[in-house]
Amino acid sequence: MVASVDGGAWGPDHRSGSINDAADWRVFRVLRALADVVLVGAGTARAEGYTALDRPRGLGHLHPRPLELAVVTRSGRVPPVLARGDRPPLVLTGPAGADTARGDVPADRVVVVGHDPADGEEGAPDDAVDLAAGLAELARRGLGRVLAEGGPTLLGDLLAADLVDELCVTTAPSLVGPGPGRIVAGAGPATTPRAVRLAHLLHSPTSRPGSPAGTTVARWLVPIG
Ligand SMILES: NC(=O)c1ccc[n+]([C@@H]2O[C@H](COP(=O)([O-])OP(=O)(O)OC[C@H]3O[C@@H](n4cnc5c(N)ncnc54)[C@H](OP(=O)(O)O)[C@@H]3O)[C@@H](O)[C@H]2O)c1
Repeated sequence: MVASVDGGAWGPDHRSGSINDAADWRVFRVLRALADVVLVGAGTARAEGYTALDRPRGLGHLHPRPLELAVVTRSGRVPPVLARGDRPPLVLTGPAGADTARGDVPADRVVVVGHDPADGEEGAPDDAVDLAAGLAELARRGLGRVLAEGGPTLLGDLLAADLVDELCVTTAPSLVGPGPGRIVAGAGPATTPRAVRLAHLLHSPTSRPGSPAGTTVARWLVPIG
């Protein structure tokens, strides 16, 4: 995830691309090179125009398998550019989104992981996606190293479900004002602060031409449980 110094998760064009820079991109490429699968919310897939993913050029030797993409969606609506492509993504959805998703991508690419009221999850809406079950199914398919690229709603849900063990956060040397949201979104009250531990901190002395330098990229360890 990338944020401006004043906490904005995107720029005026509603894309994170307008606040990130070469230093962020460099780390982003390495993370993609090491992951089995990129997990992304459908909102981000739409906003950022995701297409089928390839290993970053020049880093293919770091991983033996093609990079998979998995889209999380309640509605089951897969962005058309992904649905029409020759490498459709995996789609993690709940019972309410299953038929729509199966209309967009082959059935074996649809992972239906709803909350089962029989498991004491009474009251969970039938469009809810059980993210823990989704990650377990990805692991069963050999996709255990998951790179969640957002967006803020998905990250908020993953954190709330205690499913995030590391957070890589770039702070871009810019201010975007009060409009944009933060890197975490969703309903619910503020939670008691949880301690995270700094594992790496990278600093880039250069930035995009004409803007102040000083991008930092931090890797934070998040205690689970
Ligand atoms: N700063 C950054 O690092 C960063 C990273 C990524 C994205 N962004 C920006 O964030 C903005 C989008 O924000 P967003 O919060 O709307 O993104 P998002 O989380 O990708 O999208 C929300 C949508 O994704 C699906 N979704 C997310 N969590 C879900 C869950 N737990 N269960 C089921 N479906 C889930 C739903 O899709 P359906 O509507 O299909 O049900 C939901 O409407 C864009 O402007 C993007 O550029 C910033």
